Amino acid sequence: MNVAIVYYSATGTVHALAQAAAEGAEKAGAHVRLRKVAETAPAAAVDSRPEWAAHVRSTADVAEAAHEDLEWADAVLFGAPTRFGSPAGQLRAFIETTGPLWFHGKLADKVYSAFTASSSPHGGQESTILALSTTFHHWGGVIVPPGYTDPIQFRSGNPYGTSHVAGTGAPGEVTLAAARHQARRVVDIATALKAGRAA
Ligand SMILES: Cc1cc2nc3c(=O)[nH]c(=O)nc-3n(C[C@H](O)[C@H](O)[C@H](O)COP(=O)(O)O)c2cc1C
Repeated sequence: MNVAIVYYSATGTVHALAQAAAEGAEKAGAHVRLRKVAETAPAAAVDSRPEWAAHVRSTADVAEAAHEDLEWADAVLFGAPTRFGSPAGQLRAFIETTGPLWFHGKLADKVYSAFTASSSPHGGQESTILALSTTFHHWGGVIVPPGYTDPIQFRSGNPYGTSHVAGTGAPGEVTLAAARHQARRVVDIATALKAGRAA
């Protein structure tokens, strides 16, 4: 079971969720690739916010997402901060390079799931995740949300996908556990799907 976790993070929140998702998927027995998408903002914009520049430096060793990662994966979890209620443009920019994969049917039949962060509690987490789901529909993907399939979901509270209110600080143990659960569930469903197809 190959799982790619493809994310964008400016100041580390979504990166923390992505790392937790990677842990969850690995613990469920998957081979995992944790991949950031390329920064598209000009260096001057990044440097204008010390926490953004610091995060870029501290994640310099994380490999950048490539089409081959999507081809390799049986399941992909996408993570992006909420920007005006939608996924950050950096992740959209990567997604919008995938036309050739889509055209050749290489994104179909995989399992997809998504997670996010926003500054405020009603800042658009669901709309961001649903916007990503729109793309998964176009790809012919199998969307696997966390729902309320684990007690942690009743504490973390987002059935669409793990979400964190960044205005409250870094994600705590409950949110990280929800991200691990989401990834575990993705692995479980993708494994069952693969086995069913092979049978
Ligand atoms: C241009 C821009 C638009 C944003 N729009 C929203 C928004 O609609 N709702 C919200 O709650 N937070 C919004 N935020 C805050 C980000 O969602 C928040 O900084 C992000 O989730 C932190 O994640 P990161 O640390 O992984 O970058 C916005 C931030 C920027 C820079």
